Amino acid sequence: MSTLAGIVYLIATALFIFGVKNLSKVRTAQKGNQLAALGMLVAVVTTLVEYSGLDWTIVIAGLVVGGGIGGLYAKKVEMTGMPELVALFNGFGGLASVLVAMSDYWGRYLASPHSVSNSASGVPELGEMLSNEYGAAVWAVAVVLSILVGSVTFTGSLVAMGKLSGKIAGKPIILPGRHFILGGLFLVAIGASWFAGFGGMGSDAATGLIVLAAVAGIIGILAVLPIGGADMPVVVSLLNSYSGIAASMAGFVIGNALLITAGALVGAAGLILTMIMCKAMNRSLGNVLVGGFGDAEVSEDARDYTNVKSASPEEAAMVLEAATSVIFIPGYGMAVAQAQHVVKELGQVMEKMGAEVRYGIHPVAGRMPGHMNVLLAEADVPYEQLLELERINSDFKNTDVVVIIGANDVVNPEAIENPKSPIAGMPILMAHEAQTVLMIKRSLSPGYAGIKNPLFERDNTLMCFGDGKEFLVSVLEELKEL
Ligand code: TAP
Repeated sequence: MSTLAGIVYLIATALFIFGVKNLSKVRTAQKGNQLAALGMLVAVVTTLVEYSGLDWTIVIAGLVVGGGIGGLYAKKVEMTGMPELVALFNGFGGLASVLVAMSDYWGRYLASPHSVSNSASGVPELGEMLSNEYGAAVWAVAVVLSILVGSVTFTGSLVAMGKLSGKIAGKPIILPGRHFILGGLFLVAIGASWFAGFGGMGSDAATGLIVLAAVAGIIGILAVLPIGGADMPVVVSLLNSYSGIAASMAGFVIGNALLITAGALVGAAGLILTMIMCKAMNRSLGNVLVGGFGDAEVSEDARDYTNVKSASPEEAAMVLEAATSVIFIPGYGMAVAQAQHVVKELGQVMEKMGAEVRYGIHPVAGRMPGHMNVLLAEADVPYEQLLELERINSDFKNTDVVVIIGANDVVNPEAIENPKSPIAGMPILMAHEAQTVLMIKRSLSPGYAGIKNPLFERDNTLMCFGDGKEFLVSVLEELKEL
């Protein structure tokens, strides 16, 4: 690698890091995305210029076909289909690492089976590394890990995508003796890795490599099938981390420093996001991965309420008319109803009537990280009105009206009042402390956790039954008439 390329790679790495940093705030997220995209453009151009002897027909065909499909798909996808698209991209990332490692292996190892040669890939600096036994061992380990992790990521992501899109049943699919089957497959994978990496030359090693890729693919499928559909966002985030690890390993395989750092960044960022989601649900990563959550049928008890008071759109409008402070709490149901635009319109009407308007955002409201932020940003709700749980929770007791649109678990007081509840310890938005709670949903059905929500029968709660969007449109009409 030339010194200039090294410097440009460093600049690209810095752009990735600033990009991720900017993505952590709603206000700067768009800029973060652009910085990271610029970093990737710089990286791709430098790599193409740096490598000699490229077949440009193949490179251009790859750019046109891959870029075209990716661009078209990204433009076409609905906001609700975003988690599936991310799952698919992760899977392709894993598959790409598998292919890079395999082609490098074939090129170096099989073409010259009795000595590891660097002639096939045209990566000169790797020659030095591979010229000693230690370097060859590092290379072999990197090949094996790229294929193992990449293959698990590929098939696991396809299953996650199938579950998110409803093509595979969202319910946990639990095979009898699955832990033994997985344990056995891991042993086969270790054996195959040994053959591929260290067990000799030529065809035995090649067979080991293919067996490893196939077994890792089966492990990916069996690991994701038992996990319930609603836990898929956590799984997708974890698989995103895996795709980064596989890419980083592929970077070691071909001796590309930028691929190593970019992959490590993705690996770390994905793992941190996974942990944030688990913490916000008060569940351990192990508990998510073991699967089975969301398996239980919803008990009758969860729909059994005694003191429910309901309000019509007209009554809700009268409550809102008298309010001087309002907090909107969006949840999964707002996404289903696509009610974000009408929520924003109601917020504006309330502001014109002199009320203070804010939005309480729970980190796991909806079904993907930042789900509510994205929907409200799409409706042009001002960023400064969106307040995270920690910032808004102490204000509920001084608030006149809380309007909950299709949120349920994230406002369930059981989490803090009943230590035996399945969601005990999960941080919630303290909506129940407000003077009046307007809870808009279609029925008394529970949310994702499948449990009863005592907020429905609190004295200060008025249940507003109906589709989120339709109910709010009626409330707006009533407010205009008042
Ligand atoms: P949920 O607790 O899942 O409740 C959503 C509610 O929306 C349901 O009770 C449903 O009640 C209502 N709803 C559905 N369609 C509606 C419509 N068209 N109009 C109005 N309401 C509608 O949602 P939440 O409070 O946002 O909590 C999210 C849950 O997902 C948490 O348990 C969280 O742990 C879990 N989870 C989240 C993530 C991420 S990253 N966000 C990842 C994994 C798991 P009706 O059927 O009665 O209308």
